[in-house]
Amino acid sequence: MSLHQLVYLSQSTRKLEKEELSAIWTQAKANNARIDVTGSLFYNGGWFMQVLEGPAPVLASLYDKISKDPRHHDLRLLYNEPAAFRTFVRWTMNMTNLEERQADKYEELVDIVEAAKTGRKIYGMSPAVTLLNFFKA
Ligand SMILES: Cc1cc2nc3c(=O)[nH]c(=O)nc-3n(C[C@H](O)[C@H](O)[C@H](O)COP(=O)(O)O)c2cc1C
Repeated sequence: MSLHQLVYLSQSTRKLEKEELSAIWTQAKANNARIDVTGSLFYNGGWFMQVLEGPAPVLASLYDKISKDPRHHDLRLLYNEPAAFRTFVRWTMNMTNLEERQADKYEELVDIVEAAKTGRKIYGMSPAVTLLNFFKA
C-alpha cells in the first residue's frame, strides 16, 4: 500500500502537564504499532506539530480520529503527500517537548513551529517540508 506522510499543526486546548503529554504519547505508541504508523510529535507548551507516516487510508482515518480529540483544536493540515521512505522509521511515535530547552535541535524546532503558526516559509520551503528534511538521514 502506498506510503504517505502527513504533517499538521494544532493548538492544545490548555497547557498540558507532563503526565498528560505522557498519556498521549503512550496511547499513540501502542495504537500506531498496531496500524503500521510511525512519526513524531512536537509540543511547545501551546501548540502541537505532528508527523504521521503510513499507508494513506490508515493515515486518513487516524487523522480523522485525532482531529476529534478534545485535548487540541484548530488543526491545520500542512502536508499530506506520498513518500518513498519513512523518516521516523524507528519510532511508532517520537515525542519532543520543546518546553524543555535541552531538547535536541531545540532552536531549529522552535523556529519551525513558529513559522508554521504564521505560514512563514523557511529558506523558501514550507515549515512542514523543512521539518521532514531536518530528520532525513
Ligand atoms: C496531539 C495529539 C496527538 C495524537 N497522536 C496520536 C497518534 O499518533 N496515534 C493515536 O493512535 N492516537 C493519537 N492521539 C490520541 C487520539 O486522539 C485518541 O485519543 C486515541 O487514539 C484513542 O485511542 P483508542 O482508540 O485506543 O481509545 C493523539 C492525540 C493528540 C491530542
